[in-house]
Amino acid sequence: MSTGDDPRWWRSAVIYQIYPRSFADGNGDGIGDIAGIRERLAHLSDLGVDALWLSPWYPSPMADAGYDVADHRDIDPVFGTLAEAEELIAQAHRSGLRIIVDLVPNHCSDAHPWFQAALAGGPDAPERELFWFRPGRGPDGAEKPTDWVSPFGGDTWTRTTNPDGTPGDWYLHLFAPQQPDFNWDHPRVRAEFEDILRFWLDRSVDGIRIDSAAMLAKDPALPEATPDGPSPFVDVDAVHEIYRSWRRIVEQYPGGRALIGEVWLPDHQRFANYLRPDELHAAFNFDFLGCAWEASALRACVDATLAAHAPVDAPATWVLSNHDVTRHVTRYGRADTTFSFAAKREGVPSDLELGTRRARAAALLSLSLPGAAYVYQGEELGLWEVEDIPPELRQDPMFVRSGGVDPGRDGCRVPLPWSGDAPPFGFSPDDATAPPWLPQPADWKDRTARTQTGDDHSMLELYRAALAIRRRHPALGDGAMTWLPAPDGVLAFHRPPGFTCLVNLSATAVPLPPHAERLLASGPLDDERLPPDTAVWLRTTEPTPTPDATATGAEPAPA
Ligand code: GLC
Ligand code: CA
Repeated sequence: MSTGDDPRWWRSAVIYQIYPRSFADGNGDGIGDIAGIRERLAHLSDLGVDALWLSPWYPSPMADAGYDVADHRDIDPVFGTLAEAEELIAQAHRSGLRIIVDLVPNHCSDAHPWFQAALAGGPDAPERELFWFRPGRGPDGAEKPTDWVSPFGGDTWTRTTNPDGTPGDWYLHLFAPQQPDFNWDHPRVRAEFEDILRFWLDRSVDGIRIDSAAMLAKDPALPEATPDGPSPFVDVDAVHEIYRSWRRIVEQYPGGRALIGEVWLPDHQRFANYLRPDELHAAFNFDFLGCAWEASALRACVDATLAAHAPVDAPATWVLSNHDVTRHVTRYGRADTTFSFAAKREGVPSDLELGTRRARAAALLSLSLPGAAYVYQGEELGLWEVEDIPPELRQDPMFVRSGGVDPGRDGCRVPLPWSGDAPPFGFSPDDATAPPWLPQPADWKDRTARTQTGDDHSMLELYRAALAIRRRHPALGDGAMTWLPAPDGVLAFHRPPGFTCLVNLSATAVPLPPHAERLLASGPLDDERLPPDTAVWLRTTEPTPTPDATATGAEPAPA
């Protein structure tokens, strides 16, 4: 349903992720920017999404594509100016689109003035308290303080050199060495981020996406990480108090401002703790993002998700892709359709035709489950992971730090194709002075927004049609669902009033249940049968209630 003026919009919204470097380049330097986003806002309102989440656009040396922030209250010149950001927010609001900015509170850039002062001031600099500086182990302090392993691969500590040239203390960085971790036990760090939060809320943003949200608090004793014990740096209980204080700030603003956490935790219960009524409003469902294209696995994921969210009365979210993971057209075309960072390998064969068919069905599934949904830029164009970027052009620290073992995340960050038959496909203006910052595949000539527009079989028109239905249909977005009986390998669920979704993950076509109208299908039907890897939305009458029907329990088929 359209989220209009609803202050609880985040419970139902479809949120489109803009990765600014790769969305649209307004000034022709080969890098996406705010001017480019402003020129393309019509694409997003035509698409029918409710809100835009922008990955970081702050001043940054770009050691991690802007997730290394040097100044949280300004815009990097490569993207534009603060005034342009304010104009973009106003323009989006006029187009009925809400804006979510990306806040990175776990760490900053090594170019941040606090970190520079901490280095320049030597071992006694008070700014060192704002980070995690520690002496090394061993007689001469030459061994890192702990053996914690970075999610980027490699060490989490780097040794500093004192101003007099002697080897000094070490500092903690859970990610790259250019991303020192803040010490969230320090009141100045808390006060600073509360002020940054207000800075953006005062600029009328509707939501804040919180980067690495489960990692801010650390066990101050810095114990070793053990395979079975609690992690000393992920999901430490003290993190929740931070979000309670942020929630109090956000609630002082009118119009329904949302806090949305990037929380990667396998334990559903621990995950849901972040969504208690006085903490975050929503968090990304990475369990769904990583789930195999397999009916029983998906059904179990949906059930576990809804069961975890219900007690805290938080909306579920449904995410298929983002700027950190393999694009799902490629993932779904492989023999192993799950995603995990540990198993991320390039060049594993993928049947892109199959992957595309499944991605179309997955779009109808994820856009009709209860709660909010996310669309990562380019997913509406059916883009696949680009796996042949030459090593010398790759920029992701995951690739560089792993010595090329991990392919990194550049393959899902390739600049979007808008129009035309050859790169830059309208990503940059005709008089551009540089090529797109990552090379686009020549085959994307069939994937441009322009060629797909008006082609009823295209991914773009499927997303437009699905989002148009979702905006006007009272059953979609937040609300309840009920599984319906279905053949093996088929997901079927009802959403009141009058909506049924069927997804066929089996190898044979299945008959459609009785229905009043076929609203949308992800692919051609075979008579009145739904082929494999295809989904359909139906208008149905209400299923007959049964005494033991639960929120996600089975009910008789609608008549
Ligand atoms: C989050 C971001 C990712 C970034 C990391 C460190 O996981 O999504 O892109 O590299 O945090 O900031
Ligand atoms: Ca540019």
